[in-house]
Amino acid sequence: METEEIEAPKKKVPLAMVTIRPAKLFDIPYIMRIEQMSFKEAYPRGLFLTFLEANPDTFLVAEYNGKIVGYVMGYLRPDMEGHIMSIAVHPDYRGNGIGKALMIAVIKKLFEKGARWIGLEVRVSNYRAINLYKKLGFKIVKRIISYYSDGEDAYYMILRPEDFERVILS
Ligand SMILES: CC(C)(COP(=O)(O)OP(=O)(O)OC[C@H]1O[C@@H](n2cnc3c(N)ncnc32)[C@H](O)[C@@H]1OP(=O)(O)O)[C@@H](O)C(=O)NCCC(=O)NCCS
Repeated sequence: METEEIEAPKKKVPLAMVTIRPAKLFDIPYIMRIEQMSFKEAYPRGLFLTFLEANPDTFLVAEYNGKIVGYVMGYLRPDMEGHIMSIAVHPDYRGNGIGKALMIAVIKKLFEKGARWIGLEVRVSNYRAINLYKKLGFKIVKRIISYYSDGEDAYYMILRPEDFERVILS
């Protein structure tokens, strides 16, 4: 895995001033702007609307000073895996602990709803996200060849409840 010095955030934000709450319909344009700034291939608006309708309590946003600065989309699969579909923090607000706070909130919610474990896919080159997931207790369980449309491989990572508890209590 690539490693790099963690850069200072462009905008320093006290985490105590950040509210994590369920996403609402009126948040979608702001969520989409962060999505477009964060990924090469952004999801279309319809996908966010459908996802919000189906998973209103595990689609969360981070709000600071009345502004949406990040979001996370989680859902419970039929096999009871809690799956993280997407997470992103506005580029100016990264490095403040907002991504970690969003992940902790959605993971807790998914376990409350009966998830047996939490799973996600991440680009093998995305060391920032991989670092974040490892810090929360996720482990790489397999590499999925050419998972992304540009041919890049993904790591499939999972978090067991006992590993999450250990991380949260430490
Ligand atoms: C991944 C992402 C959500 C992290 O959000 P963030 O708010 O910047 O993350 P946090 O400030 O909560 O940092 C949490 C951990 O992530 C890792 N991390 C964050 N920024 C990092 C960086 N620049 N370099 C290396 N690790 C980094 C660290 O392990 C950090 O823990 P620490 O602060 O205790 O050292 C954000 O970088 C992002 O939006 N990236 C673009 C979208 C994306 O790649 N999403 C994931 C798709 S699978």
